[in-house]
Amino acid sequence: MIQLERLPLTVTPSPLHRLDRLGAAWDVGELWIKRDDLLGRVLGGNKLRKLEYILPLARSAGADALVTTGSFESNHCCLTASVAHMLGLEAGLILMGPRGPRVPTANERIVRRLGTEILTVEYDEDDPASRADLARRVEVRLAELTESMEKRGRRVFLVPPGGSSLEGSYAFFRAFGELHEQMKQHGREAYSIVLAVGTGSTFAGLWCGAAGLAADVRVCGVSIARTNPRCIDESLKAVERLCRFLNLSVPDAEALDIRDGFVGDGYSKPTPESVPAIQMARETEGLLLDHTYTGKALGALRHFWSGRSEGHPIVFWHTGGVSGAMDDIFALRVSADG
Ligand SMILES: Cc1ncc(COP(=O)(O)O)c(C=O)c1O
Repeated sequence: MIQLERLPLTVTPSPLHRLDRLGAAWDVGELWIKRDDLLGRVLGGNKLRKLEYILPLARSAGADALVTTGSFESNHCCLTASVAHMLGLEAGLILMGPRGPRVPTANERIVRRLGTEILTVEYDEDDPASRADLARRVEVRLAELTESMEKRGRRVFLVPPGGSSLEGSYAFFRAFGELHEQMKQHGREAYSIVLAVGTGSTFAGLWCGAAGLAADVRVCGVSIARTNPRCIDESLKAVERLCRFLNLSVPDAEALDIRDGFVGDGYSKPTPESVPAIQMARETEGLLLDHTYTGKALGALRHFWSGRSEGHPIVFWHTGGVSGAMDDIFALRVSADG
């Protein structure tokens, strides 16, 4: 099998353990968690695994600066900038979000503390034309930032937004192998994985990992922002790209299990399912989940599997986003004694 170069950044294997109290509370049977929130740098998260396989490209291009883009909440931007600094590289970011008053997120505070060069792009949330023009405006700012860094003599590498690339998905192809070994050590070879889906590149890697090992494992994605068919179509593109690279047969859309009923009002907005799921995970298992990604995925897990597990183990893949969980906690209004 073809192997891609890895620049080690994570402490792996990330822990795998049972969530017996949560599993019992929701009657979902045997519930496990894969702790990619504990990958050993900053606050962990799936983007760290992706960077391990993307950054060798930057190194072979001789880059001494990393530039990327994402929302003000972006875990990818925070981890890219942090890793750049760790490696002695310069970092530049284009951060975007709705116009209006906003409290800086923990991720934004971290990158600002690092002294990262940041340009911002804002849009009017209620104006479809302003949203439609966002991608173009981000491109313009990216070009500006890159040019100014190059003028200072930097050689810039553009990290794909969200770490969504062949290399990013390949990281999760490998991560599937890591989980499967751990599950086998516990005598489990057949199970389901539940995870949050944004661009679909993490999902694609896990799906191909299961297909590549012909494992009896169902990978179930929960879309956190896009509805279908868009979410499935984008994820399918990521699956196809990796299948071609790995010489696996390309599936059709029906083979991908990606559920879009938990998007609610959209990206980063809490939902009636995410709020109690996050609270329950905190109370029963001491887990920190955010409303943007993992909270939505866990809310869906509860919805679909409550009272219906039939002994089939479920692995909830904690893809990170702990700084978003901290944003939510700090946003809560509590009295000093409450
Ligand atoms: C914490 C967390 N979980 C899940 C995802 C979704 O990953 P993907 O874009 O590969 O679907 C992201 C992406 O931003 C993330 O930060």
